[in-house]
Amino acid sequence: MTRALGEKNTTHKKLVSWIDEMAKLCEPAKVFWCDGSEMENKRLCDLMIESGTFTPLKKRPGCYLARSHPSDVARVEDRTFICARTAEEAGPTNHWADPGAMKEKLMGLFKGCMKGRTMFVIPFAMGPLDSPICKIGIEVTDSPYVVANMRIMTTMGQKVMDKLGADGTFVPCMHSVGAPLHPGQKDVPWPCEPDPKNKYIVHFPDEPSIWSYGSGYGGNALLGKKCLALRIASAVARREGWMAEHMLILCLASPEGKKHYVAAAFPSACGKTNLAMMQPTLPGWKVTTLGDDIAWIRVGKDGRLYAMNPETGFFGVAPGTSLKSNPNAMASISKNTIFTNVVLTPDGDVWWEDMGVPAPERGIDWEGNEWTPGSGKKGAHPNSRFTAPASQCPVIDPDWQNPEGVPLSAILFGGRRPSTIPLVNEAFDWEHGVFMGSACGSETTAAALGKAGVLRRDPFAMLPFCGYNMGDYFAHWLSFPQRTDRNKLPKVYFVNWFRKGADGKFLWPGYGENSRVLKWICERIAGAGKAQRTPIGSLPAGDALDLSGLNLSPQDAQALTSVDKEGWKKEIEDVEANYKKFGSHLPAALGEQLRQLRQRLEQE
Ligand code: GTP
Ligand code: SPV
Ligand code: MN
Repeated sequence: MTRALGEKNTTHKKLVSWIDEMAKLCEPAKVFWCDGSEMENKRLCDLMIESGTFTPLKKRPGCYLARSHPSDVARVEDRTFICARTAEEAGPTNHWADPGAMKEKLMGLFKGCMKGRTMFVIPFAMGPLDSPICKIGIEVTDSPYVVANMRIMTTMGQKVMDKLGADGTFVPCMHSVGAPLHPGQKDVPWPCEPDPKNKYIVHFPDEPSIWSYGSGYGGNALLGKKCLALRIASAVARREGWMAEHMLILCLASPEGKKHYVAAAFPSACGKTNLAMMQPTLPGWKVTTLGDDIAWIRVGKDGRLYAMNPETGFFGVAPGTSLKSNPNAMASISKNTIFTNVVLTPDGDVWWEDMGVPAPERGIDWEGNEWTPGSGKKGAHPNSRFTAPASQCPVIDPDWQNPEGVPLSAILFGGRRPSTIPLVNEAFDWEHGVFMGSACGSETTAAALGKAGVLRRDPFAMLPFCGYNMGDYFAHWLSFPQRTDRNKLPKVYFVNWFRKGADGKFLWPGYGENSRVLKWICERIAGAGKAQRTPIGSLPAGDALDLSGLNLSPQDAQALTSVDKEGWKKEIEDVEANYKKFGSHLPAALGEQLRQLRQRLEQE
């Protein structure tokens, strides 16, 4: 007997009764159980073309353009809640709400919220199904756009249901765009709750469960990503002794063929996707990609730290992506990709700022209006994105879905820092490395609603994503030398591609040229690579960075690799002020790191 599209195909009684309960609450017109098949995807995409959500792109097979409501363009950090038992458990960097009161609020919001719509049931897994730390979620959503994106971003469909079997555990993830349809009411291409104060991205780390209301965009709605794989997973990981991090994972192979696995944490829109699949400009060096946004890291049998990417796709920033900056991303998005909030060209292709090709003479901008490049308006939203299968990346690493992950040689932290922070800085030891992570900061970007371009502390690039008290998160990082032989831990670095000169231009060319920094890091790991010990860490010695063939003035090279003493004094003040908010949850070891750094700088 063949199963009709959308029909239930599970023996999991608890799941079925939860779905019944949710259907009663949300009152959808119908319930659709997703199997992840080609046929199902085609049906949903066709429906979205009909409703105006999707525009098929003539120039790119299997590709669609979506335009969001102008109020629904990025993560909403102000509306993101961690409902731990107490405010203290959520910590000073999270919005907390009492779990009971929030549940009541959510029940009210979800009551009848799917009227006139289809309720989709999406079985998905974060991590390969055969991985020891794979987590299964069930996302219930009234957005077919979310279904199509989840199919790219996660392991999704019947195979997950089969793995779940009759009694497997799953994380319930409720999602609604919060726009019920009344009888006769015409739908809009991007339904959502337009009132920003009525959006809710809510996590119950103790259950665990996720409830998201009012937004259809990115991390607000694709609940496997930031909600499950970072906020919930970080809380679970702390209990279970591993780490869930906002990190890319790459493999760097030297000209001799020696492989080094590197993970890097940069805040949103600060270069993870670009570094993950960069094309080194240095001859003979090769980068292959394992992940571009999230790493789950645990101690392996041999005592080293192993990293695994729980996602199966890239939800990447479009503006700035070009054949020059990121040719591998450009190849990844040539087919089977969803584009959101970019320009539609008259010949049925997409365009965005700094795509490296001439702008079309006219087009349709991200808000759906006629647009010309001379209009003075951006055609693509700064947080416009592509959703592309990782398998389409020409440099995807053969081990990217290895259930055990890959052993890390180095961990990098970074951010957008126009001043003070050098191009690369090596930590003296693990504790100093944890200090570096805790002191991360960046100019804010368009990835979250709010003002862009102001410096904010973003420890470990996890400020918006840590599902518990961040002071305790620091302590968790500090606990790893007790969990394994400290000599087996990766070396830690702080990098900054975004230093600016007096003219406001970037001092460092970035992108493929970042391979020069990675090369030095590899040399350091191998015990070669010369460094100078400074008060802030070990910086590349005089000629240790390979700058051959680069048109970098000696003054700029010097600025990038030296200690700006006055700048660092201010930096220390700012880090100290940020530490204060953690009170008794701040590990003493970090206060001590700060004290020692200050002392080293003063003794200089
Ligand atoms: P999320 O997906 O939000 O987590 O972002 P991300 O960290 O993956 O950032 P991404 O690689 O998408 O880069 C964001 C922006 O930074 C893009 O506009 C890039 O062009 C720009 N960028 C990335 N790497 C570099 C670099 O080395 N130098 C400079 N100057 N810009 C860069
Ligand atoms: C980020 O903001 O770090 C992203 C995009 O990766 S989103 O999935 O929307 O969170
Ligand atoms: Mn991200």
